Amino acid sequence: MQLTYYGHSCFGLSTKGKHILFDPFIRGNELARHIDIKSIQADYILLSHGHGDHVADAEEIGKRNHATIVSNFESVSWYEAKGLKGHPMNHGGTWQFDFGTVKYVNAVHSSVLPDGTYGGNPGGFVIWNEEGCLYFAGDTALTMDMKLLPLTCPPLTAAILPIGSNFTMHYADAVIACDFIGCHKAIGCHYDTFGYIKIDHDAAKKAFQDSGKALLLLTIGESIAL
Ligand code: NI
Ligand code: MN
Repeated sequence: MQLTYYGHSCFGLSTKGKHILFDPFIRGNELARHIDIKSIQADYILLSHGHGDHVADAEEIGKRNHATIVSNFESVSWYEAKGLKGHPMNHGGTWQFDFGTVKYVNAVHSSVLPDGTYGGNPGGFVIWNEEGCLYFAGDTALTMDMKLLPLTCPPLTAAILPIGSNFTMHYADAVIACDFIGCHKAIGCHYDTFGYIKIDHDAAKKAFQDSGKALLLLTIGESIAL
């Protein structure tokens, strides 16, 4: 599995020859100005919830790539009405895609689509195949439901967790989340983009190190092998 960071909560995952894009919000992100969204490939676009800082570029990238939108039923229906392909899911459900298995899991947050349409309940995703298992938490508070992941999914290779506080978990809560999900390799998201969520990178990494965990804060545009 190859993971590329496009800023805020947007990541590209390449696995088994497929390109999976999470929560595309690039054009509106000052910190991601050097990313050309026309260069981004996507066979699937996974949307955690309907807020603009997670879906703003989904329609454009989705239409150009003929991508399939994967999210909850309400969000997928909204994109299908715009002419995009979709695969609707809901909490607790899994589906076998051609790149692996996806489970749509709980998140504690809110959700509405950009035009005010009800966006269903927000979620996160666990994606697995023989190359690994990745948890993309979406926007969420620390929640006891995270303890269900080790009981219902393969062991995690890595977890993408929000760490910016104010709208989501603080990094101190994300350290606890790592214990709940049984994964000591976290990749931070949802930090620094806006004034409310600016964090001290060194303090965040130290909080993870102090409890025997690693926090990766990727440079926007950087790719890593998981
Ligand atoms: Ni949100
Ligand atoms: Mn958000």
